[in-house]
Amino acid sequence: MKRKDLLDLQSLDVDEIAYLLDTAESFGEVVARPVKKVPTLRGKSVAMLFFEPSTRTRTSFEAAAKIMSADTYNLTGTTSSAVKGESLKDTLLTLDAMGIDAFVIRHGASGAAQLAAKYVPHKPVINAGDGTHEHPTQGLLDLLTIRQVKGRLGGLTVAIVGDILHSRVARSNVWGLHKMGARVRLIGPPTLLPAGAENLPVEVFTNLEDGLRGADVVNVLRIQLERQDAAFFPSVREYARLFGVSRAKLKGAAPDVTVLHPGPMNRGVEIESALADDAQYAVITHQVTNGVAVRMAALFWLMGANQGDL
Ligand code: NCD
Repeated sequence: MKRKDLLDLQSLDVDEIAYLLDTAESFGEVVARPVKKVPTLRGKSVAMLFFEPSTRTRTSFEAAAKIMSADTYNLTGTTSSAVKGESLKDTLLTLDAMGIDAFVIRHGASGAAQLAAKYVPHKPVINAGDGTHEHPTQGLLDLLTIRQVKGRLGGLTVAIVGDILHSRVARSNVWGLHKMGARVRLIGPPTLLPAGAENLPVEVFTNLEDGLRGADVVNVLRIQLERQDAAFFPSVREYARLFGVSRAKLKGAAPDVTVLHPGPMNRGVEIESALADDAQYAVITHQVTNGVAVRMAALFWLMGANQGDL
């Protein structure tokens, strides 16, 4: 099937996800080279529209584009004319008229990437996180990291812990992992679990120890205080005590349990600081390294020779 955009993992099929993971796997070799430059996208341009803060995602998309010799243009929420009230539509039409070839967008509104894809009907749009909806390249880099560490995805039990309600990372993980044959658990206080979680292909736990029992992989999410306009839990300390993932809390998990965190971390809140640095469990920097290769794969899929065709 031919694709123009990468907006979510929910609508991708197993072959498409496997293709993106395999392609990223082979680009990993390029990222590890001392001279990181291939001509794959020479002469093409990518605009990065980041209306929300980002360290990892923006930099790794830029690195991915540059390694493949594309030119990049950075627009952030504070330096673009969005602060003057220009609409998303006019911003995209302006960049389209300049001849920009593809768009990477992060936006606070769920559905913004899909809207952007409609405004530029002939050019690729990649969702780099839209509100609380999806963050497909984060989901893919989590899948790739798990597959590299465990050697497979099928049959694994993966527990996603924390602020599920506000997490686009959780939603992309759920769809990606489920499609690739993993069993997915969501763990969090009832106030941070989305309404309708029972309609997702997951098992839901409101007790951390119960949810971690036998887990092969634990993906710890950041508490997204910036999206919480009400008190979802009594205090940060209480949250850390009940839902903070630590080495002690992992006792009931599989002996070779692997711990992921998409970053940015609140050390000492959702994750014990020493656990985040413990190479026996944590693969957080490995995730970041894979982020570049996964974004190369996404750009290549939509902008490379066969443009979205598998
Ligand atoms: C995530 C995001 O922005 O959705 N970060 C990321 O892209 N690595 C998760 C978060 O902000 O907690």
